[in-house]
Amino acid sequence: MRCPHLPDGFDFTDPDLLQSRVPHPEFAELRQTAPVWWCAQPTGISGFQDDGYWAVTRHADVKYVSTHPELFSSHTNTAVIRFNESISREQIDVQKLIMLNMDPPEHTRVRQIVQRGFTPRAIRSLEGALRDRARGIVDAALSEADKNDGAFDFVTQIAVELPLQAIAELIGVPQEDRTKIFDWSNKMAAYDDPEYAITEEIGAEAAMELVSYAMNLAAARKECPAKDIVSQLVAAEGEGNLLSDEFGFFVILLAVAGNETTRNAISHGMHAFLTHPDQWELYKRERPVTAAEEIVRWATPVVAFQRTATQDTELGGQKIKAGDRVGIFYSSANNDPEVFEEPDRFDITRDPNPHLGFGGGGPHFCLGKSLAVLEINLIFNAIADVLPDLRLAGDPRRLRSAWLNGIKGLRVIHG
Ligand code: HEM
Repeated sequence: MRCPHLPDGFDFTDPDLLQSRVPHPEFAELRQTAPVWWCAQPTGISGFQDDGYWAVTRHADVKYVSTHPELFSSHTNTAVIRFNESISREQIDVQKLIMLNMDPPEHTRVRQIVQRGFTPRAIRSLEGALRDRARGIVDAALSEADKNDGAFDFVTQIAVELPLQAIAELIGVPQEDRTKIFDWSNKMAAYDDPEYAITEEIGAEAAMELVSYAMNLAAARKECPAKDIVSQLVAAEGEGNLLSDEFGFFVILLAVAGNETTRNAISHGMHAFLTHPDQWELYKRERPVTAAEEIVRWATPVVAFQRTATQDTELGGQKIKAGDRVGIFYSSANNDPEVFEEPDRFDITRDPNPHLGFGGGGPHFCLGKSLAVLEINLIFNAIADVLPDLRLAGDPRRLRSAWLNGIKGLRVIHG
């Protein structure tokens, strides 16, 4: 079905459109007039179901698709929406080894193992170290600002750092290796952006280097266990533990899923605070615990993922055929007025806040949610203490990406 109110040929998944802004008015139009909308856009990847996909924009429908893996597979065509990309079938097959792109029962087995590293207790145990790191990062940004008449780039000085350091802390890699992880994860996630000139070969090479780094780490921990999750997950290969290559692919997922997402939540959060000064004042005064969830709703770092129908079914009154791809737009769901009062308002006291920024509640629901919320709280607490008078010094530079709502640069001034 075509949306009657959108211009002919309009395509809201066009990376150029996402580059400038997430198209909220267009999503609003779709939610009202064509909530399950056929978007005729090919992927260009051989072997993919390739003539287009259903765009799902309502909160209730995004949740339904996410919680019915028996009807909507993450494996068939993987979870990341692609179009007109020069990625090969071979690369897609490699990506199917990552848990995000698995279906039950394979997914259930891997998830049961890796979630041992993400229990509330495991995350709480990182809090003290991460609080010190957050403070150290913000203090370093202040020194940088002092050298440059108060000006610095918020993304590179602050937003990039804590998620990287947190993952390094979590998997026990030496902190000095974290720049390697940064570089590899950027190469794997930023392939849509011409500024980085990432080719499939560069992305694949980065992924392989990271897998090999992680496998070496696993081998070292097996030999000489430490008190980190690597040691727990690979203690003995076989039943109940990960194989070395499975661990390698898990670290790839952590490097992309845990880094790029949290970095962008922090950058968007700062931008939202600085463009909504009343909310920044409120934050500095009261530090409400509800702020982190609102930042994630507002930013929605993952714009959309996709599933593939396993059988003929129905969704929002549309007949979906087995093999059809279905794009679930978290960005749209998070602004659905059926669920959120005044969704266009950035309100850090919003409660309840049933946003889908971490996924629609199904088996793939974000494994790192508690860690992400902790990081967001710690970094904004440190910023409010050390850099309370930040101001914007220009518009954000947006990442060109089909699925990440990313900010590459955000100039700010302190004082
Ligand atoms: C999955 C968002 C931070 C690890 C996901 C999904 C989303 C998401 C949308 C897919 C959910 C689904 O398909 O139902 C985010 C956002 C974050 C964040 C917005 C930050 C604000 C993190 C962190 C980590 C992490 C810090 C770990 C260090 C994962 C993993 C998965 C995942 C491992 C795959 C889970 C599975 O397939 O079972 N995340 N994430 N994420 N996330 Fe996050």
